[in-house]
Amino acid sequence: DLAGRPVADLAGRHVVISAGGTREPLDPVRFLGNRSSGKQGYALARTAVARGARVTLVAANSELADPAGADVVRVGTAVQLREAVLKAAADADAVVMAAAVADFRPAHYATGKIKKRDGQEPDPIALVRNPDILAELSADRPHPGQIVVGFAAETDDVLANGRAKLARKGCDLLVVNEVGERKTFGSEENEAVILATDGAETIIPHGPKEDLADTVWDLVATRLA
Ligand code: CTP
Ligand code: CA
Repeated sequence: DLAGRPVADLAGRHVVISAGGTREPLDPVRFLGNRSSGKQGYALARTAVARGARVTLVAANSELADPAGADVVRVGTAVQLREAVLKAAADADAVVMAAAVADFRPAHYATGKIKKRDGQEPDPIALVRNPDILAELSADRPHPGQIVVGFAAETDDVLANGRAKLARKGCDLLVVNEVGERKTFGSEENEAVILATDGAETIIPHGPKEDLADTVWDLVATRLA
């Protein structure tokens, strides 16, 4: 408002946010992981709290401190993240999948540390697909008014890939980031375009992850109203 306080346009709403990156264990000391820091998901949680929402943050392997006022559920793997998000989503008005979810996990988990042997070539790592949580959330909504938001990190043909992904996932909004060696991962800032199922494209100029988060909530609040 005019005094600089945030508008409580999410008061009475429950929003669920996933953040960070899943880790898929190979043995007790090793995992397959990704470079997601969790910063964008945490910014979504902070801004949603500021706008009056009840917030459940499902955090995968993030080193960031719990955002004040949010319920934080910590998870490790994609399978654990799916379970926590589906449980929290049951009574949610909106679900935002900002987490980087591993597409594959090792087919086998070694309960003891994998050892190398003299003169032996390493075995290849067999992988299996993880569940697609965003597609599942979009297809099986607990109530028809629930808004589902995805994120997409693309390195090439960002808009075309984003449009195709929005259609494939079945979500309402897709935040498309261009990523590269020095872009987005671990950084304080972000730039993106948000694609909507109705064809709308909202360009978010380079800036703090809070600004992107607030634009996501603007679009969600409009669709909930
Ligand atoms: N996602 C998910 N479950 C997965 C993989 C991804 O819920 N197993 C979600 C992410 O949280 C993100 C969105 O789907 O919100 C898009 O992730 P992305 O990796 O860009 O999409 P994919 O369908 O995995 O496509 P790609 O082959 O480009 O990785
Ligand atoms: Ca993926």
